[in-house]
Amino acid sequence: MKILWELDTQVDPTWLTLMQKAAEAALIAEGVERECAVCIRICDDEAIHEINREYRGVDRATDVLSFPTVNYPAGVTAGQADRLLRREWDDEADAVMLGDLIISVPHVIAQAKEYGHAVQREAAYLTVHGLCHLMGYDHMEEDEKRQMRTMEEKILSSIAMERDVQPVSDEALLAMARQAMERSYSPYSGYAVGAALLCADGRVFQGCNIENASFGLTNCAERTAVFKAVSEGAGDFTVIAIAASGSAPWPCGACRQVLNEFAPGIRVIVTWDGQTDEAPLSQLLPHGFGPKSLDR
Ligand code: THU
Repeated sequence: MKILWELDTQVDPTWLTLMQKAAEAALIAEGVERECAVCIRICDDEAIHEINREYRGVDRATDVLSFPTVNYPAGVTAGQADRLLRREWDDEADAVMLGDLIISVPHVIAQAKEYGHAVQREAAYLTVHGLCHLMGYDHMEEDEKRQMRTMEEKILSSIAMERDVQPVSDEALLAMARQAMERSYSPYSGYAVGAALLCADGRVFQGCNIENASFGLTNCAERTAVFKAVSEGAGDFTVIAIAASGSAPWPCGACRQVLNEFAPGIRVIVTWDGQTDEAPLSQLLPHGFGPKSLDR
């Protein structure tokens, strides 16, 4: 894999070594045998913000942007698209040009800190993520997101860099929901609810119901957890545990709708008075209205 570096900012050379290794592993995992090249620009938040605004109409900085040269048909990735790859042969690079990646150094540093791993590792992870996009993967739909994550894990584990996500058991998540319940502010209904929302990266966000003397302003435990998570940049919610006493705290209609916005495939587990029950959200909100309903 040839990498054409464009370094706006000075970074430690160990970043580049690991990113090169990750990029090579991506091609091998995908089964691409042709010599390929990629342009990687390493820049600050200001530069990535500008590109995001200009080319994607998104007015904010981000961690990584990918601009593939190949236009893959739906469901096809680089490993099955040799004919398309051949068309992108670039004489100057003497390789198939897969596209451009732009990576923000401040985001690499902040995310490495958040996940508690080395900056080089975060840079390599973002390279893998971006290269997956350049190879035709995406994460707009649930099933393609799963395929992309599986490929990312395959690449990272081939270079012994898989994300060491601590599995969170249902029991642990239920205990966190019960703990959140203790923080409920519910002087009007006296019905305390706690929630614990698990993300695929292992993070858990807790929430409780927060009532108000103006009753309609009450926020349910589930929505507190979802809003905390989304506002911290988390996503990919896999399970939500909800705790109360006296009756099974199945989420209300508003919470089902909010969960459906971000995680239509989420599992919902409820616990009350020593009992538990569970159901997928798709069963609690059949024929739900969601982001896809607005696809034109
Ligand atoms: N509540 C929740 O926290 N989650 C739900 O899904 C249903 C209801 C809270 C809101 C209010 O504080 C109390 O339970 C009684 O409605």
